[in-house]
Amino acid sequence: MSEELLRYERLAAELAGMIANGILSHGERLPSVRRLSQEKRVSVSTVVQALRQLEDRGLVEARPQSGHFVRRAMPLRAEPVVRLTPEAPIPVDISQRLVRVLQAGTRRGVAPLAAALPAPSLLPVAALHRLYAGVARRHPKLLEGGSHINTDEPALVRQLVRRSLAWGGPLAAEEFVITNSCTEALGLCLRAVTKPGDTVAVESPAYYLMLQLLETLGLKALEIPTDPRTGMSVEALDLATRNGGIAACLIVSNGSNPLGCVMPDSKKRQFSELTAARGVAVIEDDIYGDLHLGGERPWPIKAFDKTGNVMLCSSFSKCLSPSLRIGFVAAGRRRPAIALQKTITSGGTNPITQLVLAEYLESGAYERHLRSLRRTYERQVEAMRLAVGRYFPAATRIAQPLGGYVLWVELPEEIDTTRLYERAIAENLAYVPGELFSASGMYRNCLRLNCGNPHTPEIEDAVRRLGAIFSSP
Ligand SMILES: Cc1ncc(COP(=O)(O)O)c(C=O)c1O
Repeated sequence: MSEELLRYERLAAELAGMIANGILSHGERLPSVRRLSQEKRVSVSTVVQALRQLEDRGLVEARPQSGHFVRRAMPLRAEPVVRLTPEAPIPVDISQRLVRVLQAGTRRGVAPLAAALPAPSLLPVAALHRLYAGVARRHPKLLEGGSHINTDEPALVRQLVRRSLAWGGPLAAEEFVITNSCTEALGLCLRAVTKPGDTVAVESPAYYLMLQLLETLGLKALEIPTDPRTGMSVEALDLATRNGGIAACLIVSNGSNPLGCVMPDSKKRQFSELTAARGVAVIEDDIYGDLHLGGERPWPIKAFDKTGNVMLCSSFSKCLSPSLRIGFVAAGRRRPAIALQKTITSGGTNPITQLVLAEYLESGAYERHLRSLRRTYERQVEAMRLAVGRYFPAATRIAQPLGGYVLWVELPEEIDTTRLYERAIAENLAYVPGELFSASGMYRNCLRLNCGNPHTPEIEDAVRRLGAIFSSP
């Protein structure tokens, strides 16, 4: 290890210690780079590297023209660790159990801690209603056309191209296909690049609807170990793809569901190069990209793609309303195949909603809304972390998400969240058991909590009662 490396690591550890002890508190500004360099007698580049490491660990955030700020209190509890996964691809069989869990979670009176849904009060529903009325009045012929042909509204595509500047773009308008939701976009991509029996690499733990898609398309999942901070292991993917046989990789590189991790840029570049070289099609889900917690909006892997191999999928379900059912895929070189799948699967996409969204994005309201939504989610996630820390068994590990608004919790090994789910739901408490995030049934001692709702006394009480169940299994 070089002297310079030791110096920046030492400085990072010292600053992390000051944050842990509360000497530097939540929201506080760190001394400037120049001052730290003078006081610690290290070079400016050493300070910059130390601060970057603290940023990667989620402890500080850089604010343009203002310096570095402490992001949040140090974790009260240890974070989950990377788990080893089975080496062989596995057929998926979670759908029946998943549907039961999601349906039970939406029953009246059940605490909304299961599905990753935002509270309606956080969404600009009134503004969207006004736009629907205006668009329907000003465009009376919108319901006269449409059928099983693609109907991407140029006005919406234009707005997406504009937004893609923040994703390392601009992407070309010709790359986009507008879809009915992100789920549809993911399904179209899978259909375009796989055939039944193929293997798809996924994060471990992985978003359950991705696993469900693999199940319904007759695809096998190969779970790749995933770091709770920095995402899917590129080394493990390298090993897994050495002998071919992997048709595609599904990945949420920004704010993965359920871990909330964000892959650093250097790793995204490696990932993009490796998959292109190995002929593995990348289906990237960036639905939480706009919901990074602190710092700058992270770029997707798509930003590092030089060969058109990455299909970038997203929607407005998490930021505006899940009821819009509008998503898209920027499909790279596979755009024609995906447009064909869209025609076969569902034809066009509702033109009124497309125009509503285009007008909303054009008005500039989206950016303002996002700024406040991100702050709200950050507060809610933090409140949930603290509540879990208060009420769950002592050895519980809690993720520290860098994006999105779900929280992954790892209980002591002997606690079975699938078995205890029945007890919880009987008490009107919902969560998603950890095993539904794995094709091989790993994570039976884990669970995911939705933090999309304001942390009211009712939510606090629900977490307390869940803690009581897990404390006397
Ligand atoms: C990673 C991820 N992708 C996609 C979706 C679903 O998006 P949509 O409602 O647009 O289908 C979700 C919702 O939970 C999600 O967490």
